[in-house]
Amino acid sequence: GSGKFFVGGNWKCNGTTESISKLVSDLNSANLEPEVDVVVAPPFVYLSQVKNSLTDRIEISGQNSWVGKGGAFTGEISVEQLKDLGSKWVILGHSERRHIIGEDDQFIGKKAAYAVGEGLGVIACIGEKLEEREAGKTFDVCYQQLKAFADAVPSWDNIVIAYEPVWAIGTGKVATPEQAQEVHVAIRDWLKKNISAEVASKTRIIYGGSANASNSAELAKQEDIDGFLVGGASLKGPDFATIVNSVT
Ligand code: G3H
Repeated sequence: GSGKFFVGGNWKCNGTTESISKLVSDLNSANLEPEVDVVVAPPFVYLSQVKNSLTDRIEISGQNSWVGKGGAFTGEISVEQLKDLGSKWVILGHSERRHIIGEDDQFIGKKAAYAVGEGLGVIACIGEKLEEREAGKTFDVCYQQLKAFADAVPSWDNIVIAYEPVWAIGTGKVATPEQAQEVHVAIRDWLKKNISAEVASKTRIIYGGSANASNSAELAKQEDIDGFLVGGASLKGPDFATIVNSVT
């Protein structure tokens, strides 16, 4: 592993004022291992509610951000606004934004560069689709997506890489510890060859895709799995706490 474990909860486009208030109160009463960085990414419209009610033990992330300074960009949320509301992080390059919304590598790289430049931490997501895995292209796809981040960002100090195989996201079909570890090692090797040995050893590489309270401990035992980006299971406070506490 690469230093402190990191567990993020990506709430995606889920929740209501009421359900989020319940989730926050469950998280506030959970006992979380001190040796884990814990971050949650609520939908933008609930950021203030969450920031104002959630324990400071857990940091807040946006789920996306605009590619540059805010302005006349209808429907977008700027890095400045995320920071104003107390977010320390932003998730960029999530497969739902790549493949459903249509964001491409260059656009995502620019977003990451802007966010990092403004002092936000970036949870940089990469991962292959099922047909790409079946065609033996898993590493190529991951390297290409990584390169787009690498070509754009000024520094890797504040970046966590989330490897999320698309076929595992929301499907209940989690990668095996061996499948995840194999890609995490490849990502670390890529960083070593293309950035530096220091960045390779310091950058946290977390896994996402049907991670839950029953499979996280086994995955976290793998040498190069430094935590998780959790979707569905992060909507249940006790399950999310179990995942956080399973990694150390
Ligand atoms: O960002 C989180 C990932 O997309 C994983 O989602 O845990 O619901 O499969 P999931």
